[in-house]
Amino acid sequence: MEKIEAVLKEERVFYPSEAFRQKARINQLQEYETLYKESLEQPEAFWGRVAGELHWFQPWQKVLEWNPPNAKWFIGGKLNLSYNCLDRHLETRGNKAAILFEGEPGDSRILTYQQLHREVCKFANVLKSLGVQKGDRVTIYLPMIPEAAIAMLACVRIGAVHSVVFGGFSASALADRINDAQAKVLITADGGYRRGGVVPLKANSDEALADTKSIQHVVVVKRTGQEVPMQAGRDHWYHELMADASAVCPAEPMDAEDPLFILYTSGSTGKPKGVLHTTGGYSVYTYLTTRYIFDLQENDTYFCTADVGWITGHSYVVYGLLQNGATTLMYEGAPNFPNEGRIWSIIEKYRVNILYTAPTAIRAFMKWGEEWPRKYNLESLRLLGSVGEPINPEAWLWYYRVIGQERCPIVDTWWQTETGGIMITTLPGVHPMKPGHAGKPFFGVKPEIVDSSGQAVTNPDEGGHLIIERPWPSMLRTVWGDPERFERQYFSQYPGRYFTGDGAKRDADGYYMILGRVDDVLNVSGHRLGTMEIESALVAHPAVAEAAVVGRPDPIKGEGIVAFVTLKSGHNPSPELAQELKAHVVKMIGAIARPDEIRITDALPKTRSGKIMRRLLRQVAAGEEIKGDTSTLEDRAVVERLKASSPH
Ligand code: WT7
Repeated sequence: MEKIEAVLKEERVFYPSEAFRQKARINQLQEYETLYKESLEQPEAFWGRVAGELHWFQPWQKVLEWNPPNAKWFIGGKLNLSYNCLDRHLETRGNKAAILFEGEPGDSRILTYQQLHREVCKFANVLKSLGVQKGDRVTIYLPMIPEAAIAMLACVRIGAVHSVVFGGFSASALADRINDAQAKVLITADGGYRRGGVVPLKANSDEALADTKSIQHVVVVKRTGQEVPMQAGRDHWYHELMADASAVCPAEPMDAEDPLFILYTSGSTGKPKGVLHTTGGYSVYTYLTTRYIFDLQENDTYFCTADVGWITGHSYVVYGLLQNGATTLMYEGAPNFPNEGRIWSIIEKYRVNILYTAPTAIRAFMKWGEEWPRKYNLESLRLLGSVGEPINPEAWLWYYRVIGQERCPIVDTWWQTETGGIMITTLPGVHPMKPGHAGKPFFGVKPEIVDSSGQAVTNPDEGGHLIIERPWPSMLRTVWGDPERFERQYFSQYPGRYFTGDGAKRDADGYYMILGRVDDVLNVSGHRLGTMEIESALVAHPAVAEAAVVGRPDPIKGEGIVAFVTLKSGHNPSPELAQELKAHVVKMIGAIARPDEIRITDALPKTRSGKIMRRLLRQVAAGEEIKGDTSTLEDRAVVERLKASSPH
């Protein structure tokens, strides 16, 4: 802990090497400043020019219409993201690798742009033959295999709205998401490989389907070859449907504001929200951010370790990369299978140039020891990226020294499911890096730090709430089925301005440092989890009366989960019950939500008005002294009893 605090005071500034800078797409600070200024002062000219680099079936009439909280971009324009990811490259890059795939057991596949185009067209026809039409929702529950990208692109090609559900989510979480989206088709696999084991995706799907009514067809990719029951009429093998599908499928011209995909994310209520992105703005913004932030060069091999079940996988494994005609690497499995050198062996094998991963992974690599990366040749690496949570300077420095060998700039990219693309980062060929600071706003982004009354905090290094002043192209358009929640959640605290839910501060050079969530959202290993979501799962257990979940600092995961529960009469605390409750949360949500610690107690600390004092629980969970005012507590003796409760 002492060591971490010492590096928290890290004040060194790191500059991109001359070798990197010379070849970078943007390498003059002046160029960034000019473009940034133009993007804010003349957004029509700026975004119109960028959009013009993509293919449109019909040009837009107006770049932006902003009636807070509703933004419309590229009004009247018609395009198709699958066309921009595939067809657009056939002539010039048809035989270039689009996807490099490495399976966990060691199998591999390469799909060129032509091959990927063919598979996507065929699968788009399969979806049509199953009755999927423009606007219909399709749920995708797959491992990190090429079929996940093929399924996403096939939906997009015919204008169906995909909802990808991370393969680590449980049957019950899958059912909730299918029901909320009212999906017509589910695409899954028999199983997926993970850490030497098999994730039973089809079995989970069958369990989920018992609680859903909207699904008419299930398409099953054969991945592991394990025996799975197939329900006649409902379940179909992917390879059988593909065998006689036509490879001709023109891309559907979509309106710029037509729904593109839904992706569920946790908020401060018990129910995850379906973040909706639309076609034009999302395409343009992910295209541009990928190009400049990762400084993509034509022959680069790019490797992002995120799963397509998260927004990072959508924007920076699939869409941003393919729109740029780049080569993206997908790895199916765990970073420590068969050993802790797997990521580095992949980098050596494919001569990866750009690596994008999360601080939690970097901290795990540190723990495993630098002897693992040292065994491999990492000289191909040119640029490193970090995403998902604040990166502590100690992890930053390790990443820079051991992985980047002090040669590769690091981009610490701040963004959210809702923002669709990266919002705050350094540009690698331009900006000096400050460990722990994400950096500067990207083009078109105007962040502000405000106090609770909405006044801008102007003193350098003074903390406040991070808001975004105006719309950017890939801003979420609504919460699926709940426009009221969309407005309340993002645009009501500071009317007309987007509230991120994060705290931040800005230094005298205009660099932003993200301080973490200020709402009831936890960030566990770079994954977002609502405390209420875990609480609802706990109270659904027959033994639990009440539950309160808080985060506590964790050296690897960033945040760990601690749950305080009270029991219904007739139930007694025991280590076995605590284990059962943990398993219950895994069953309801998924392994990512497993509480690190359960504390069974006889009462929760509440104010006289009945509000749980989470601040107190956070202090108890972290083993800290109880500080601050406790005078509003209904029963002050509760604190002592909480401290005495045994952790399981
Ligand atoms: C939350 C969004 C965006 C892709 C992955 C997560 C935190 C994200 C950073 C960063 C500090 C970060 C924020 C944000 N976050 N990137 N570089 N530095 N914090 O997407 O699941 O929607 O979570 O992740 O707290 O609000 P998400």
